[in-house]
Amino acid sequence: MDKLRIRGGFPLAGEVDVSGAKNAALPILCAALLTAEPLVLSNVPQLQDVATTLKLLRQLGVTAERDGERVTLQAAQPVSLEAPYDLVRTMRASILVLGPLLARFGQARVSLPGGCAIGQRPVDQHIKGLQAMGAEISIDHGYVVARARRLHGARIVTDMVTVTGTENLMMAAVLAEGTTVIENAAREPEVIDLALALQAMGARIRGAGTDRITIDGVDRLHGANHRVMADRIEAGTFLCALAVARGSIVLRRIDPSVMDATLDKLRECGVVIETGADWIRASMDRRPRAVHARTSPYPGFATDMQAQLMAVDCVAEGSAVITETIFENRFMHVLELQRLGAEITIEGSSAFVTGVPRLSGATVMATDLRASAGLVIAALVADGETVIDRIYHLDRGYEKMETRLGALGARIERFR
Ligand code: UD1
Repeated sequence: MDKLRIRGGFPLAGEVDVSGAKNAALPILCAALLTAEPLVLSNVPQLQDVATTLKLLRQLGVTAERDGERVTLQAAQPVSLEAPYDLVRTMRASILVLGPLLARFGQARVSLPGGCAIGQRPVDQHIKGLQAMGAEISIDHGYVVARARRLHGARIVTDMVTVTGTENLMMAAVLAEGTTVIENAAREPEVIDLALALQAMGARIRGAGTDRITIDGVDRLHGANHRVMADRIEAGTFLCALAVARGSIVLRRIDPSVMDATLDKLRECGVVIETGADWIRASMDRRPRAVHARTSPYPGFATDMQAQLMAVDCVAEGSAVITETIFENRFMHVLELQRLGAEITIEGSSAFVTGVPRLSGATVMATDLRASAGLVIAALVADGETVIDRIYHLDRGYEKMETRLGALGARIERFR
């Protein structure tokens, strides 16, 4: 199993191109199921979750060719309408094939994702929405079994804001008969990016990026080209790394307007940030100030940035409260950060962090994707050497983290 070895205490300097967004790429890859014609995607990040999605799509009969950051998909002839447990359990986003399969082929069998390290994460809202659109759904031997002659438009109000739930329902609705309105829709930029890809395929969607999305169903979609948006979470992770390691970096190929909440927090920490249309320049020459944060759906502070900001607070001047409102068990990085000398106590859904002047290197374990990123950040400023085990979690969502942080001056290497 791969590990990372990081020697702390080296400032960052240089430029880095932000990768394509994992959370935009995954649903857009699944959108290929909605048409028999080719979907050509560029800026697709090279990540384990993308590889898992391509494997799943190929298993369903989609041809998928990858050439660097370009992926060409064609779902001419399905060979199977089943997403099996062995793939779904490794990546919950596999549920995103449910809406497209049902909309285009009238049936689907998708394994229930089951337990997940960061919380329960049920898919009841996906199911409820599809039922409102006329699907007959049952749970059979751990699988969601869905059937519909043709889905019809419906008015759907989700109980909570769900990102992949909104995306699944949007993909189902584009081929349904009539108009679907999704209320309480997720406003994440990745939902907008999916809508742009679907529109390029001929879908009729209004309101993506607001909490009411209206979709007029069409009979068929066609092939299209689409460039996947940049990864705001990856960009935010680099900036948190800078906040603790200090130095000066430029992030390229990123629209700063999709990450206001993160930029605000980092400015509050003392990072000096300048932005242009597609770049962010940031510098830091002091110990960060502690900042409070409360995760919430977009445009609030992202739960996917919580572990990384906590790592910054661990070495900040002062103390801060970080409250997690989206997932009930997303503090697993706390025990590992404590092994590095962080002072954190947890009460319910809040972590109370008192900044310490130094962390000390130790062996720690990655527990989920963003928790791993938090550990990498803490290690950049810990005395001596930190070894992070189980970094397959990190590889799910970060493209060559060690090479890219290494190019910025971090002392970081992968080994077995
Ligand atoms: C997506 C992101 C993930 C991010 C999360 C929250 C992708 C591939 N993943 O995950 O990186 O951390 O949004 O921003 O885009 N819920 C239900 N029932 C449902 C659906 C959701 O109870 O049917 C609950 C979840 O348990 C959670 C909350 O709603 O407490 C939000 O989850 P959701 O937005 O659906 O997360 P994902 O789409 O899985």
